[in-house]
Amino acid sequence: MFILGFRIGEDNQVKIILFSEISLDGKLTVGNCSSKELLESMSEKEIELIQQHRNKYDAILVGSETIKIDNPNLTCRLEHGVSPIRVILSSGLNFSFNENVFIDENRTVLVTSSNDEEKLKKITELNKEVLLVSATDLKDMRKIVCLLEDKLGIKSLIVEGGGSTNWSFAKYNLFDEIHLLQFPVLVGGKNTTSLVDGEGFQKIDLCVNYQFMKVEQYGTNLYLTFTKK
Ligand SMILES: NC(=O)c1ccc[n+]([C@@H]2O[C@H](COP(=O)([O-])OP(=O)(O)OC[C@H]3O[C@@H](n4cnc5c(N)ncnc54)[C@H](OP(=O)(O)O)[C@@H]3O)[C@@H](O)[C@H]2O)c1
Repeated sequence: MFILGFRIGEDNQVKIILFSEISLDGKLTVGNCSSKELLESMSEKEIELIQQHRNKYDAILVGSETIKIDNPNLTCRLEHGVSPIRVILSSGLNFSFNENVFIDENRTVLVTSSNDEEKLKKITELNKEVLLVSATDLKDMRKIVCLLEDKLGIKSLIVEGGGSTNWSFAKYNLFDEIHLLQFPVLVGGKNTTSLVDGEGFQKIDLCVNYQFMKVEQYGTNLYLTFTKK
């Protein structure tokens, strides 16, 4: 189906996984800062697991806050590995443009509703790409996924948060699989970013159900995978 020039999601052929590193209580960070402190306990094996996933998927998607706060590379650093296309959601494009995703050679695509000429020109000068959508469409991940498939040929996507971005996919039941590296630490804090934030479901029968697939132990941490029911 096409709405306003977009197909609307149910028929997308894109495999979408959520991949996150979380605390026991499902927090993505310690306090409202970068996730780096939480990730410090990761072993080489876990870092390699993340890299192997990035090598397998066509694209990796995050929200603008993750770019501003964590300044990640979102690349695959395995020898002979292929980095996924980096897709970033941002309505305002309020970046410094010194973030890693703007300055290395790898492909970055901004999905935005901004018509700020200066910022759009800056992105083009940095050899990065823009997919311009309406403000309404930017909120509908069913449409954005179809757009990524149609315009960029993306058939598989890793969503790596943060909590607002993860909710935008969860609310339309778009995750085929959920992959979690869970660290045995309680973080707490009602304002600390969680795996899925946003407005949340208000009724149990609206909640998305997943089926447990497997658990692996990496030192003191667990690697849990779930699939859509
Ligand atoms: N532990 C982990 O695995 C992990 C992974 C990733 C991030 N994190 C942490 O998560 C935190 C950031 O999470 P967050 O929830 O605040 O932000 P986020 O999801 O990274 O980014 C949200 C921002 O993206 C933009 N956006 C545009 N369209 C959107 C849409 N449809 N849905 C959602 N966002 C959209 C909005 O900003 P504008 O439109 O104004 O640009 C929005 O404020 C950071 O502290 C980071 O360290 C942890």
